[in-house]
This record gives sequence, C-alpha cells and structure tokens, in this order.
Amino acid sequence: QTRRVTAQDIRQRKSGEPIVSLTAYTAPMAAIVDEFADFILVGDSLGMVVYGFDSTVPVTLEMMILHGQAVMCSTRKALVVVDLPFGSYEESREQALRNAARVLKETGCGAVKLEGGVRMAETVRFLVERGIPVMGHVGLTPQAVNVLGGFKAQGRSKAEWPAILADAEAVAQAGAFSLVVEAVSEPLAAEITRRVDVPTIGIGASVTCDGQILVLDDMLGLTGRVPKFVKTYGNLAEAVRNAVSAYADEVKARQFPSESHVYSLKPE
Ligand code: KIV
Ligand code: NA
Repeated sequence: QTRRVTAQDIRQRKSGEPIVSLTAYTAPMAAIVDEFADFILVGDSLGMVVYGFDSTVPVTLEMMILHGQAVMCSTRKALVVVDLPFGSYEESREQALRNAARVLKETGCGAVKLEGGVRMAETVRFLVERGIPVMGHVGLTPQAVNVLGGFKAQGRSKAEWPAILADAEAVAQAGAFSLVVEAVSEPLAAEITRRVDVPTIGIGASVTCDGQILVLDDMLGLTGRVPKFVKTYGNLAEAVRNAVSAYADEVKARQFPSESHVYSLKPE
C-alpha cells in the first residue's frame, strides 16, 4: 500500500530526479498514467481535447470537478492537481478560495493550479495560508488567449524576460509548491528554473526544468494538430481508426457478432 504523492513531496524535488507528469481527464487513462507519473493534472485543456472547444475559456468549475472525481476514482499513487477554470478565481481571493475549496472537497484531489503571475500572487498566498496547495502557471497562459491574440511562445525576445521572471518569482514567493512554465524560449525557462526555489514543470520550455508535463492525448497521437513542443510517443488515432474500420467491415459482412459473442439458450 503506497501513500499518494503530496504537494510537499513535489515541493521537495527542486533540482532532484526529474518530476514526471501528464494530464488525464478520465478514469481508464488516469489509471495507466498513475503507474508512471508523480502527479496527474486534470487540466482545463480538457475543454479543447475532450469537448472540442477552440480554447479553455468556456470550461466550467462543474466540468473540472466531474473529471477530477473520475481521475481520483481510478488512481492511488500520483498527486492529482485540478485546474481552476477561467472565471473561477480572478475576481477576488475570496472567490478563488470558495471555488478551490469546492474542488478539494468534492474531488479529494491534493492541489489546484491557476494561471498568472504577479497579479495572482496575493491569491496564491491567501489559498496556501488557508490549506490549499497551489501550483502556479506562467509563460503562455492559455486562459488569456483572447488578450494574447493566440497560442504564441513567450519570452523569445529578451525585452519580455523581466516581466515573465517577475511573474515566476512572485508566484513562487507567494507559496506555490511548483510552477508550470509553458511555451517560453528555452533560455528563459532555464533562467526561471535557476531563479525560483520551487520545482518548475516545463511544457514547451526546457530540458533543464525540474519536471516535464504534456497533454496526454497530444503525446498519444490522438489529437489533430499539435504545438511544436509536443513529441508524439504513440499513434492512437491510427489504432482507433483501424479498430473502428475492422468493426464496420465485420458488421457489414455479418461476421460480427460470432458465436463467442452471443448468448446461447441455457440447457433446460
Ligand atoms: O490544461 C493543461 O493541460 C495545462 C498543461 C498544459 C500544463 O495546464
Ligand atoms: Na490548464
């Protein structure tokens, strides 16, 4: 019987063995990831990956709680971190606490993640001081896509560095146990990793980050077009297509169901 990884365990892995993480949104996928990951992120990327939205903006707290419950049900080792969705925490630290507490109480997860740097630092401190472990997220923050004008890498010119470094340091100093660094230039990700004293989790960042994360469906080759930073480790789309096509052929040829897949009469 292994106890679950905690936010504190992750916090203590600064400059240690690289932290392994992936997203998962459903019970069966999470069960597989649980065998290998230190933490599982129930990311609001589920809006794009599972629900087909153009961005993460429409994702609701209810969706995050339902998928958080699914992932908690089928896992027992990894820390489960649930994203706070757009609109559920920016208004005030009280709003953030109310919604983060709902996520912890209703899913049983071990931490929440929220996007933003300097402007969110006060909220991060408020939550952590009241018993809610918070993972930060800086660099490309997809919930701000409508302000950023697209999913574009950040910090590719040095002029952008001071603001992004200030974001990372503010969230770390506010008590975040770890920090996702998304889609920033490699040298900036390395500099953030040197500067902050909590583990950085890179996605489109740097191999020098204290850990890495990818969107599971992207790395499995299930999603259509993927960003440059995704390495596809599988081709599930092709596997699904082959299975569905074989099924369709067998149905049309009356080869399925065969004897082994139907029920006979019970002997009298
Ligand atoms: O929602 C998500 O999947 C994320 C990761 C990309 C870090 O926030
Ligand atoms: Na996210």
